[in-house]
Amino acid sequence: MSDSRLKHIYSGKVRDLYEVDLESMLMVASDRISVFDVVLPDLVPDKGRVLTALSSWWFDETSGICPNHVISADPTDLPEMSGDLDGRAMLVRVTQPVRMECVVRGYLFGSAWSEYQSAGTIGGFPAPAGLREAEQLSTPLFTPSTKADEGHDLPLSEAEARDLVGDARYEQLRAASTELYEFGAKHALSRGVVLADTKFEFGLRDGELLLIDELMTPDSSRYWPSESWEPGSSPPSFDKQYVRDHMLATGWNKEPPAPRMPDDVIANTRAKYVEAYEMITGRSFSDWY
Ligand SMILES: Nc1ncnc2c1ncn2[C@@H]1O[C@H](COP(=O)(O)OP(=O)(O)O)[C@@H](O)[C@H]1O
Ligand SMILES: [Mg+2]
Repeated sequence: MSDSRLKHIYSGKVRDLYEVDLESMLMVASDRISVFDVVLPDLVPDKGRVLTALSSWWFDETSGICPNHVISADPTDLPEMSGDLDGRAMLVRVTQPVRMECVVRGYLFGSAWSEYQSAGTIGGFPAPAGLREAEQLSTPLFTPSTKADEGHDLPLSEAEARDLVGDARYEQLRAASTELYEFGAKHALSRGVVLADTKFEFGLRDGELLLIDELMTPDSSRYWPSESWEPGSSPPSFDKQYVRDHMLATGWNKEPPAPRMPDDVIANTRAKYVEAYEMITGRSFSDWY
């Protein structure tokens, strides 16, 4: 996806950034999907529009907790672009990204479960014995990681995270991230969805800390239907776990290039993203631009 009328600045695994002026840029979510930090050869139709719709909804809901980078996602406010960007583009403020991914975990799963099983700790913090996979933690834990330009993000100990961003900034990021997670998890639960963990990104603009990038989407979060959540088991999820499981079943070694996805896996993945949006927001995806 490109548009010659705006200058392309950067493409991440999923989003493309275009310059608008010194203060603002256009962030466009593509239909690309990455698994184990590898972008797959297939696109998931509408995925970018779902990510933008859901992020936009969460940015609105959480603006009282933490200011964010959004200027507008309304196509009529955006610079003139080709129509296929409608619903996937957002006008945002340019920031200096904080070089740390702010992960918050409310449940014991994924890499945290692996760490707990081998070391008895979660994000380097001591944890009680006898916890089960997918169990809710007594209090959400801030477990930040590095923000790698290429390859995998690495977990940071609290001391390393404090060294990276400074004590005052660390406290600010931890407080904001934890409050955002608690708000998101409470809302999600009221809609029948467990927000097991999520990742926030922040940026600085004129000394102000802003929430940037995407917000509590299935790409940056682990969501489970609450009716099928049970500690001691691996709940089916709305996130990329479905695609990860499929990819691993093909015998793929997690190194590029990734294998193609069959059509039914693509269709099911699209349906899961749309279902997550509709459950969490209570809105119909067909009403989004
Ligand atoms: N407001 C912003 N200011 C500066 N950078 C931003 C802003 N919002 C998002 N970004 C950056 O834009 C990129 C978005 O692309 P994405 O596909 O999510 O990248 P990644 O592959 O790193 O996940 C990320 O590097 C993110 O940090
Ligand atoms: Mg990203």
